[in-house]
Amino acid sequence: MAVPSRVVTNHDLAAKMETSHEWIVERTGIEERHWVEPGEGGAELGARAAKEAIARAGLTAQDIDLIIYATLSPDFNFPGTGVFVQRLLGIKEIPCIDIRQQCTGFIYGLSIADAYIRIGSYKHVLLIGSEVHSTGLDVSTAGRDVTVLFGDGAGAVVLGRATDDQHLLLSTHIHADGSEAEILWTEYPASTRHPRMSVEAMDERRHYPKMEGKRVFKHAVTRMPQAIMEGMVANGLKLEDIDMMIPHQANLRINQMVAKMIGMPEHKTHNNIQKYGNTTAASIPICMHEAIELGKIKPGDLVCLVAFGAGLTWGSAFLRY
Ligand SMILES: CC(C)(COP(=O)(O)OP(=O)(O)OC[C@H]1O[C@@H](n2cnc3c(N)ncnc32)[C@H](O)[C@@H]1OP(=O)(O)O)[C@@H](O)C(=O)NCCC(=O)NCCS
Repeated sequence: MAVPSRVVTNHDLAAKMETSHEWIVERTGIEERHWVEPGEGGAELGARAAKEAIARAGLTAQDIDLIIYATLSPDFNFPGTGVFVQRLLGIKEIPCIDIRQQCTGFIYGLSIADAYIRIGSYKHVLLIGSEVHSTGLDVSTAGRDVTVLFGDGAGAVVLGRATDDQHLLLSTHIHADGSEAEILWTEYPASTRHPRMSVEAMDERRHYPKMEGKRVFKHAVTRMPQAIMEGMVANGLKLEDIDMMIPHQANLRINQMVAKMIGMPEHKTHNNIQKYGNTTAASIPICMHEAIELGKIKPGDLVCLVAFGAGLTWGSAFLRY
């Protein structure tokens, strides 16, 4: 994982907008987040996380034969950010796929990597979730509901063919429902608008993310338990079989409610939104990395990953670490 060195506390935000440490902690659990310094980008964070993942896999960058880069905050309009990571890693001519499934991006990325590895197209897939939210947030009081939630960061994993049944990806289940896409979105810049960006749109703050928080919350606490149950049924698992659940880090209250709804004891889940905020596609690999470092996930453990996000998108993955 990689996060920028600059820590932004709730008190720092309260100095810029009408909010408070108490409001943010009570509603979301978030205490601080990391935001980039000018010039620092998602590719750079992604490459830092990728280098660590490749080294821990006992490989070199030259062993990677596909990069999947999940983000909702690409460094530039085009090309996709994956090619910039490829360049920073010094790898040439391997394919790079950028995917746009927001907070479910990492689970979607796992399903794509899994399919390619199963059919034998690629041996070592580098999957990165990386986000720079801070450069696109409204730090005035008008944007406070969204701005306090998000942090910058990256997480990466290397996937290869399983050599035994004790360390493998068991399943991925991914879903989307576009019928309410606009309850969490950033409208501008947009190729359906002429021009794509205008002074009027900026004056109306339509280039900042907008969210109907309560509706998003309701969908999240419905869809995440469904995705977990779907994976459990597909794998013939009971709740007791799961050693650790790593939920996407959007709101501590959402994750506490999901755990309660499915009956998962607290010691079998890990959350770190308190320190990082919502890092979207990066949140699951960052949280998983921390759980591994803390010894909460050990080799062979059965791990459940679950996410919900803009789109709306949601899904789960089950694996033996
Ligand atoms: C964002 C969220 C924490 C807001 O909590 P909420 O209880 O729904 O709060 P509301 O939006 O109803 O706002 C309640 C009041 O707090 C105010 N408020 C909103 N953001 C605030 C902030 N950062 N600081 C202080 N007050 C704030 C509102 O203006 C509102 O004031 P009013 O009652 O005078 O109108 C919550 O809806 C949420 O977490 N939703 C899901 C978000 C999410 O997961 N997004 C990512 C999905 S992947």
